[in-house]
Amino acid sequence: MSVIASAIGESSLAQSNNSSINSVSKGFLWGIGTAAYQVEGAYKEDGKGESNWDYYANEVGLTKYTIGEKQTGNIAINMYDRKQYLQDIKLMQQLGVNTYRFSIPWSRIIPQGIGRVNEKAVAHYKLLIKDLKNAGIEPFVTIYHFDMPQALVVKGGWANRASVEWYRAYARVIFKEFGEEVKHFATFNETTIEFFVADFNINPGQSKESVNVRYAKEIDKVHHQLLASATAIKDYHQLNLGGKIGITFNLAPCIPFDPANPKDVAAVQIEDQLLNQIVLNPTFNGSYPSQALAMIQEYNPAFQPSVADLNLMLENKPDFLGVNFYAPAQVKHDDKAAMGVSWLGNNTDQVKMSNGPVRPDYLYELLTRLKNDYGNPEIYITENGASFQNGEDTVINDQVNDDLRSAYVKDHIAAALKAKSEGSNLNGYFVWSGWDNFEWTFGYSIRFGIIYVDYETQKRTPKKSFYTYRDIIKQQTK
Ligand code: NOJ
Repeated sequence: MSVIASAIGESSLAQSNNSSINSVSKGFLWGIGTAAYQVEGAYKEDGKGESNWDYYANEVGLTKYTIGEKQTGNIAINMYDRKQYLQDIKLMQQLGVNTYRFSIPWSRIIPQGIGRVNEKAVAHYKLLIKDLKNAGIEPFVTIYHFDMPQALVVKGGWANRASVEWYRAYARVIFKEFGEEVKHFATFNETTIEFFVADFNINPGQSKESVNVRYAKEIDKVHHQLLASATAIKDYHQLNLGGKIGITFNLAPCIPFDPANPKDVAAVQIEDQLLNQIVLNPTFNGSYPSQALAMIQEYNPAFQPSVADLNLMLENKPDFLGVNFYAPAQVKHDDKAAMGVSWLGNNTDQVKMSNGPVRPDYLYELLTRLKNDYGNPEIYITENGASFQNGEDTVINDQVNDDLRSAYVKDHIAAALKAKSEGSNLNGYFVWSGWDNFEWTFGYSIRFGIIYVDYETQKRTPKKSFYTYRDIIKQQTK
């Protein structure tokens, strides 16, 4: 395994700004993505049940980044509304994408998580899928994107092994109702988010021991999600619906914060296991990475993945791997952080971009690594995008000149297509996100869209990056 440890500035693609974009075949998916809780609003409509995020945003409240303001996805950008989403489909047509990645919320389809299926919600998504297809846009459906029915959370959520069966029953409904029309499903989005949530909830002053225990416990949730995914993949394959089913991971090549500091360099090896190999290895190689596993078991000795579980994953590999890439993870040794490593890319104060340094060369490197070390699976870049804290997301005379995001999108596509031209089995690319939306713990305080959204009026204004992406797609598909 080539652990990615090159220091900033070393890489061959560091100058990729001017690189020309290789052209790709007709079957390539060009898309934009959203997730239900971030865009839909209508949080009680059509018999929707409460989700973990409905509960968290309304009852607990986001406090870390949206201080003093109660922000929720109750309205978001109103995309559950058909009038609104039809306008948004028109924008997608102007953009020229052939695919739209969105998620279906479990709490709409099965309001209590298990049991009764909500026919109204099923009808809604059938219509959305039909509307998309009529517009020439293929639906790309994420079955689970962070939002679990609250009724299941109180039963222990993903920490409860029964969640594998809860999810399986939900996924079966999805396949039955939408499997004829949808040809790309992703079982999960970013299973390692559970670790980040644990990190997010760490309070200053917590002992190192309790921080590590908290972090190590999250592996149960990750394991159950991987198992639920494999179980659903098995069911899906047995149905022979003629489509593909995959899983999406957030992957970030790890680099030392200070390449001259041996402790940071050592931390890179650990973080790479905790962040990337922890999901890639069980999915493609049938084992958890040994060093990370030992560290986790030290604080969570009950975690003993069985051979049967690991075999189930190995025998039911995803048809494709969805890759969410934003930036490399700058890793620092930190005694106070969970497992002694901290990922500075998460820290808004460190960089202009909210989630790390702009390094398209690491997307190239990641795709090359997946080719060399993980059997070159079929890949879709299911998320790639940026939110810059430089004020560029401002409407002036009906225009938004997001120059940094425009360059980001262009350079990352160039890096991805370079990897493809060298043999990476890359078959699609999605910008995150189509629209500014509710950014989880950040609320509405940061924007990722290539379409600006005025949250008061719901007015949409395509940004400069929208036109940049449109021109690239045009050039690629002519
Ligand atoms: C990861 C998540 O899948 C998505 O929901 C989020 O908005 C983006 N990355 C940006 O942070």
